[in-house]
Amino acid sequence: MREKNILCPIDFSDCSKEALAKAVEIAKESAAKLTLFHAYQFPITEGALHAIGMIGEVAGETKESIDDWTAAAATSLGAERVDSISVNGVPHEEIVRRARELDCDLIVMGTHGRSGLKHAIVGSVAEKVVRHAPCTVMVVKGTTAPNA
Ligand SMILES: Nc1ncnc2c1ncn2[C@@H]1O[C@H](COP(=O)(O)OP(=O)(O)OP(=O)(O)O)[C@@H](O)[C@H]1O
Ligand SMILES: [Mg+2]
Repeated sequence: MREKNILCPIDFSDCSKEALAKAVEIAKESAAKLTLFHAYQFPITEGALHAIGMIGEVAGETKESIDDWTAAAATSLGAERVDSISVNGVPHEEIVRRARELDCDLIVMGTHGRSGLKHAIVGSVAEKVVRHAPCTVMVVKGTTAPNA
């Protein structure tokens, strides 16, 4: 039988932390493999970052953060088969692309993220992922979400 895959996109916000806890719970119940995923975008153009020799630094810091969250998912939440990926790119596009590549059964993400627009029911990344995902998407309403 094919192993089940769950993708958990995180932006290091409290809401995505709550989504991660839910993703770990489901992964344990269904003996699924869990992949934490973060897409980062550079604050200035990639060319400028190259010029000042900072491109590796930004990518390195992101990798460190996602590695910390992955380790915490295993130690604090008890995730059994957990992995992580970080890539440079537009978040919703990269999330959908990775869900396809990994043949994911489920995406678990937060309703909101770091910017937390108060009027929106869900953030723009969550909305676009729901619209374009190749699989079921669970959006977790965090206790710190703007509409909670
Ligand atoms: N760069 C990212 N990489 C991976 N997952 C992300 C990223 N950004 C957001 N997410 C996921 O999407 C969820 C919802 O965040 P989203 O960005 O849609 O809301 P927001 O930040 O409140 O609003 P917006 O970004 O539209 O201003 C997050 O909890 C997280 O699971
Ligand atoms: Mg956001």
